[in-house]
Amino acid sequence: MKPIKVGLLGLGTVGSGTFTVLRRNQEEITRRAGRGIEISMVAVRQVEKARAIVGDACPVVGDSMLVVDNPDIDIVVELIGGTELPRQLVLRAIANGKHVVTANKALLAIHGNEIFKAAQSKGVMVAFEAAVAGGIPIIKSLREGLTANRIEWVAGIINGTTNFILSEMRDKGLDFATVLKQAQDLGYAESDPTFDIEGVDAAHKATIISAIAFGIPMQFDKAHVEGISQLQAIDIQYAEQLGYRIKLLGITKRTTKGIELRVHPTLIPGTRLIANVEGAMNAILVQGDAVGASMYYGKGAGSEPTASAVIADLVDITRLAAADPGHRVPHLAFQPNSISQEIILPMAEITTSYYLRLRVADQAGVLADVTRIMADLSISIDAMLQKEPAENESQTDIIMLTHQTQEKNVLKAIEKIEQLATVFGQVTKIRLEELS
Ligand code: HSE
Repeated sequence: MKPIKVGLLGLGTVGSGTFTVLRRNQEEITRRAGRGIEISMVAVRQVEKARAIVGDACPVVGDSMLVVDNPDIDIVVELIGGTELPRQLVLRAIANGKHVVTANKALLAIHGNEIFKAAQSKGVMVAFEAAVAGGIPIIKSLREGLTANRIEWVAGIINGTTNFILSEMRDKGLDFATVLKQAQDLGYAESDPTFDIEGVDAAHKATIISAIAFGIPMQFDKAHVEGISQLQAIDIQYAEQLGYRIKLLGITKRTTKGIELRVHPTLIPGTRLIANVEGAMNAILVQGDAVGASMYYGKGAGSEPTASAVIADLVDITRLAAADPGHRVPHLAFQPNSISQEIILPMAEITTSYYLRLRVADQAGVLADVTRIMADLSISIDAMLQKEPAENESQTDIIMLTHQTQEKNVLKAIEKIEQLATVFGQVTKIRLEELS
């Protein structure tokens, strides 16, 4: 059988990894796919630079449209990043009857509904294993391996940059800005790290996970997005003293009122396996009603780990290219006519536990005032830590962990607590998940 022909858009970190791994493992991949997979055209901005990698294996062009319009190409692999240009290229490739593989989480979280609809009507596949957690096969696990389950929740460390920063802050007691600078100098963090540190990258991935876990459309605009740039080293230390680690989690959860979709720093019991995922590694914990908890761990970024996911998609498409569209694995795991319109809950309606840090006057009655406010709002306290004031200081920190409560109750309590004359500055609030 003739090899399937692939057009590659972008030859950066992931593109060059894809090229290298496909070439290195060609024989084994062909045995698995049933036919060869051949990169037959590459489009890049810097054509000369790309030729140094590609050699004379295939033509290298500067115009991506030449790839998506090339009638000989069966699958377009989009690895250029951004959203608007990829959207146009992917839609055009689909309109031309080509299958698409993409690692672009922003593209799918924002334009996925439009893209999957177009793909459905043209009977082509859009595969995106590389878009979430790099080399970890979480899309395949959710969409196929766990298909028997009613998924209850998914919680993941799905951004390596922020996990690296948090690990360093904890290990070395350094503040956020210092570690970010080090991460940039070492090349771990982008020179513009905004998407990573502000939780946007994780929210794109959580949006995709949420859609697949619950059979709902992509709804990035409804996701709560909070990064780690405001996190203080002192809260990491207090959390440790209470037996918790702080991680940036992407969480999506089914509740009786709707679906929670949120990214924020989260306290996790230090004994949980996921709390011990350190450095730039990723891990995703899935709770299904039949399987219970299962965890997926690995490299969430990097050239060959991400290429591993891109090529897995190429093999899937190669195997299924001849199958009729109605019998392929649906893009969002659920059949298109069974996508649910269940709502994503506003953040005020979510239920979780909280870590609260207050700066207070060290005098009689302060704690009573604070706990009265919390009791009036039915917020139950789970644990408390009060630091002895430093010598010559009349203020101290109180740290409280709450039992589960609704976010709106905590927001009201914080508003009232901050009005107390004996409480100084703002209350620090970090959500806490037991993940049990
Ligand atoms: N920037 C991402 C991370 C990798 O730090 O995990 C690509 O999604």
